[in-house]
Amino acid sequence: MNDAGFQVRAYQHVDEHAVVRLWETVFPDDPAWNEPRAVIRRKLTVQPELFLIALRAGSVVGTTLAGFDGVRGWVHHVAVAPNLRRQGIGRLLMQEAADRLRDLGCPKLNLQVRASNPGAVSFYERLGFLREERISFGQLLEQEA
Ligand SMILES: CC(C)(COP(=O)(O)OP(=O)(O)OC[C@H]1O[C@@H](n2cnc3c(N)ncnc32)[C@H](O)[C@@H]1OP(=O)(O)O)[C@@H](O)C(=O)NCCC(=O)NCCS
Repeated sequence: MNDAGFQVRAYQHVDEHAVVRLWETVFPDDPAWNEPRAVIRRKLTVQPELFLIALRAGSVVGTTLAGFDGVRGWVHHVAVAPNLRRQGIGRLLMQEAADRLRDLGCPKLNLQVRASNPGAVSFYERLGFLREERISFGQLLEQEA
């Protein structure tokens, strides 16, 4: 727990409803393949201990999904409840993710930020992340429904 009373732990099934609500609020434009319940279901099959939840007084106030692919660590779904931002929750989540990845032997943490999200860019810069010149590619692997 940090000085402000926020705590981070791994996701538990009891968190599902609150996490879905948080992501629907914070990521309203996510595509169907990234639908919250599908993300949760998939993440619970791979390194569920890296699915991190921030809590205040027992309520879900933030999330981070981390993963180590054996070469790099990645984080996704870094989200803090809009009314509780700028109080250190995002930093706490990212610190815990980095600690857990380091403990797994992960040498480097990567992440992607949409160019249209300057707030997140500033956040990661404040946390000491460095911009790297890369072109980001992606390919959907799931079949269309
Ligand atoms: C980005 C986000 C996770 C930050 O969470 P947060 O709890 O507000 O961040 P913190 O309070 O821990 O801030 C850590 C540092 O980043 C800075 N920071 C956070 N948001 C910032 C912003 N929008 N603009 C500038 N600086 C910002 C804080 O001032 C703080 O700096 P300091 O430690 O030097 O005082 C949160 O704004 C969020 O959920 N945004 C919407 C979802 C999103 O964009 N996620 C990232 C997807 S890649």
